Amino acid sequence: MNEDKTGNAITEKALEAYSRIENKRLRELVQGLIRHLHAFVKEVKLNDQEFETAWSQMEEMAKFTGDERNEYLLFCDVVGISQLIEAINHARSQSAVGSALVGPFFRANAPKRKRGESIVSDDTKGDRVHITGTVYDLTTNKPIPGAVLDLWQAATNGLYENQDENQPDYNLRGRFQANEAGRFELAALLPTPYPVPTDGPVGELMKLAKHQPYRPAHIHFIVSAPNYETLITQVFRKGDDIIDEDPVFTADRTMIGEFRKDNGQYRLQYDFQLKPGISTMPKAPIP
Ligand SMILES: [Fe+2]
Repeated sequence: MNEDKTGNAITEKALEAYSRIENKRLRELVQGLIRHLHAFVKEVKLNDQEFETAWSQMEEMAKFTGDERNEYLLFCDVVGISQLIEAINHARSQSAVGSALVGPFFRANAPKRKRGESIVSDDTKGDRVHITGTVYDLTTNKPIPGAVLDLWQAATNGLYENQDENQPDYNLRGRFQANEAGRFELAALLPTPYPVPTDGPVGELMKLAKHQPYRPAHIHFIVSAPNYETLITQVFRKGDDIIDEDPVFTADRTMIGEFRKDNGQYRLQYDFQLKPGISTMPKAPIP
């Protein structure tokens, strides 16, 4: 019979066992994880069967994880961990465009396109949108000449080009350079909602929670310039009725664009602001 009903002695022993990790940050992470996992087990009084369910689910999640999909990352996305990490690491003033997840569908080296060009192949179904705007310095409000915009989006069938063999290579992707006045101009597809993958254990969990899987319509942007922090963001559509139900908790009022229709043509005017700092590009999840 275990005398330690509270389990506190076990927690202390476990923390002690990992107290000799030399790297200070790694030690902090491992011990913090142990502390919080132990607290969780105590709080919910996790039983044997539930514990077994937990590790069986992880085994199941591994079956849905490979080069093109990571069920663990999807889990972190749909319980808000990914966006939380984004929020605490990339706090920006409320006057600026917000920072968002890079997501699993980014590909590096998208084609460089000329000012005003379209990222949409002619045979892609859906409405087009003409996008213009300026990239500004967040602190001085001056335009940033030559800033680079790398954007990507899903087709109206809900699939990104690298998920869909019927789309041409690098369809709905492109890099544009702002001019001397920091201004850019391009054409894209009017974005439409698409679901996160729901055929695995994470989808099952979302169904139990009645957590709807459709991401509000959006276009992904990475905006960069030398000596500025790279901005990873998404632009959502004002008036989208699921804007407050984003399954990955990214959409918020700092990332909403007004897609207006005049004379049958959708237009978006949208500005970005960059913070002085070190420029970095995210790792592309898919080679
Ligand atoms: Fe997306």
